[in-house]
Amino acid sequence: MGLDDLPLRPDLRGQTPYGAPQLDVDVRLNTNENPFSPSAAVVASITEHVAQVAGGLNRYPDRDAVALRGALAGYVSERTGIEVTSNEVWPANGSNEVLQQLLQAFGGPGRSAVGFEPTYSMHRLICRGTGTDYLAHSRTDTFDVTPAVVQRAIGESNPDIVFLCTPNNPTGTAIGLDVIAELYDATSGVVIIDEAYAEFSSSPSAVTLLPGRERLVVVRTLSKALELAGARIGYAVANPSVVDALQLVRLPYHLSAVTQAVGLAALEHTAELLHRVEELTVQRDRIARSLEELGYDVHASEANFVFFGAIGDQRLMWNELVEASVLVRDVGVPGHLRVTAGTPDETDAFLEAIAAITKEPSL
Ligand SMILES: Cc1ncc(COP(=O)(O)O)c(C=O)c1O
Repeated sequence: MGLDDLPLRPDLRGQTPYGAPQLDVDVRLNTNENPFSPSAAVVASITEHVAQVAGGLNRYPDRDAVALRGALAGYVSERTGIEVTSNEVWPANGSNEVLQQLLQAFGGPGRSAVGFEPTYSMHRLICRGTGTDYLAHSRTDTFDVTPAVVQRAIGESNPDIVFLCTPNNPTGTAIGLDVIAELYDATSGVVIIDEAYAEFSSSPSAVTLLPGRERLVVVRTLSKALELAGARIGYAVANPSVVDALQLVRLPYHLSAVTQAVGLAALEHTAELLHRVEELTVQRDRIARSLEELGYDVHASEANFVFFGAIGDQRLMWNELVEASVLVRDVGVPGHLRVTAGTPDETDAFLEAIAAITKEPSL
């Protein structure tokens, strides 16, 4: 009995699931996680918050996650300088679930979404899962999204949804707020700004564009800068009417009491967590400089990873790095690889491995 024997939806036949390899290596720099585990103070705070809800786990959690939304609104207001209220915030199990809920509400069969490739592969996959047509448009040769790129995409596709990822995964490049504002004016669809890596960037957040733009949605996460990939907490910031729309499609009690408690605990420690973001940007910039010195074509990154080209055969290099017990990401862009900024030791291991491979290529 295999997939072909099941009455599977025809559009899912022959497809493959999302699958960043999870290999047993010493240095894992392939999924843009934060290499630092939560500090003892954060762990203690999480433990305390979870203990407080544990005795009530016989009951369903707060369906509207009111306390967590309040804490997220406070965090976003502090970071962006824009006064955000809890009815403009909607959390879910990772920003992937937020994106899925957005597609359930605004996409679906007979509707389309535009993305600018290369970009985060889950945008396409979430479209597939929700029966939304995904229309891929190319970035410029330097992987930028310019006003011309935007105008062409909207003109050709007239989409219901537009995805913009900034800083973009996998390229690390950021998109100017002027381009986002122009895109918003050019489309009548919902504009989703995926800011999973916002805290690593020196560019202003698209949250600053929200006033007066009710079709704009900024999606962010606690998985990257805030060291909580394992807790699965992401959130949207948008006009309250968008939050109302998401409540039409979310499953009841989608965010467990434990998850809400973990999020509340972490948000009490943002100053400390953000301090370590600075340490990571130091490692990111060290990787970029070293790769440039080795002769690679490095794209300016505002995230916690570096995308580099002029590799020749990236699959071969990926394998050679795995042999050196270092896992990076081949996102399928010929001649390019993506490496996540690690701890200083992990970064050393990657830089030593790639320097050795560069000096003695197998080809
Ligand atoms: C651009 C982007 N958006 C969203 C996500 C999903 O993050 P999560 O579901 O952990 O919040 C990722 C994860 O790598 C990402 O790179």
